[in-house]
Amino acid sequence: MQKQPTILAIESSCDDTSAAVIQGGQLLSNITDVQQVHAQYGGVVPEAASRQHEKNIVAVVQAAIEKAGVDRSAIDAVAFTRGPGLIGSLLVGVSFAKGFALANNLPLIAVNHMQAHILAHFIEEPRPTFPFLCLTVSGGHTQIVRVDDYLTMEVLGETRDDAAGEAFDKIGKMLGLPYPAGPQLDKLAQQGDPKRFTFPEPRIPGLHYSFSGLKTAVLYFLQAETAKNPNFIQENLSDLCASVQHRIVTILVSKLRRASRETGITQVAIAGGVSANSGLRQIIEYYAEKDGWETYIPRFEYCTDNAAMIGITGYYKFLKQDFADQSVSPVARYSL
Ligand code: KG4
Ligand code: ZN
Repeated sequence: MQKQPTILAIESSCDDTSAAVIQGGQLLSNITDVQQVHAQYGGVVPEAASRQHEKNIVAVVQAAIEKAGVDRSAIDAVAFTRGPGLIGSLLVGVSFAKGFALANNLPLIAVNHMQAHILAHFIEEPRPTFPFLCLTVSGGHTQIVRVDDYLTMEVLGETRDDAAGEAFDKIGKMLGLPYPAGPQLDKLAQQGDPKRFTFPEPRIPGLHYSFSGLKTAVLYFLQAETAKNPNFIQENLSDLCASVQHRIVTILVSKLRRASRETGITQVAIAGGVSANSGLRQIIEYYAEKDGWETYIPRFEYCTDNAAMIGITGYYKFLKQDFADQSVSPVARYSL
């Protein structure tokens, strides 16, 4: 029988430094350092993110190997995020992976971060079967992908401007919520009336998305209302949050339904940090019932950026002997 590979995986595309060890498709460890430095600036500062990765990466990798309980000599390959992401952040992970592989004479596996978000569904049960649709929604990405096999996927639609998480964060910031505003907006929305304020739905062709118009519409609305009543936001905060959330999740789900109708695929998976949103989960469950979907949402720690998803993708690429060489470099815009 073929030996099951042990893979060290590294993720550093944005503001989380993460390392994982995966053996024969079984996750042994997954350690993530979530950088706190950005909160004071109200958003991720690229320069600060790369410096923080540089500071943390050795300790995070050591902790992942230790927790996995494997000897360093047992590692068969190093998988790393090649892109998409912030170039300075990616460089730290790519350089570390190359150094580790060179020092230990190991093959390298270059992983696409977006593919990894989708394959996070294969870290543990229940796993979707092929083909399925995946809505990947995070601070940096919004995509509907048709997944025909582990490494065969096609982007059916994506955002033309802001990502859904970015819309939550930027509109939340207008409402005075601290960064990242998405989870706070979600919490407040649960006490509010989602039908109180109506915001426009963008007219974007096909299965693509756009969120920048919504952001501008909310800004103008708030400016007009606070000119009449300076306390408008404070007095209506939970209704504003509920109405904004309602609009974002209805935009997301309407294109997802269209993708399901057009492809005839009813297995529907959600990935990325925004999949934690209670409104999105509710509406997905509603349509699961109505449209006969089977839905999949990974555990939250595998939805946000993590190295476990890089490890599982690395595993499937290892099985295909799909290796990179030492000249590999990061790619900020890296399509599926
Ligand atoms: O996947 P992720 O951790 O990192 C990126 O790759 O961007 O996603 C982070 C995003 C942030 O925009 C954050 O506000 C959003 O996910 N988010 C939420 C919720 N939890 C996280 N947005 C809305 N509701 C939530 N409950
Ligand atoms: Zn991500």
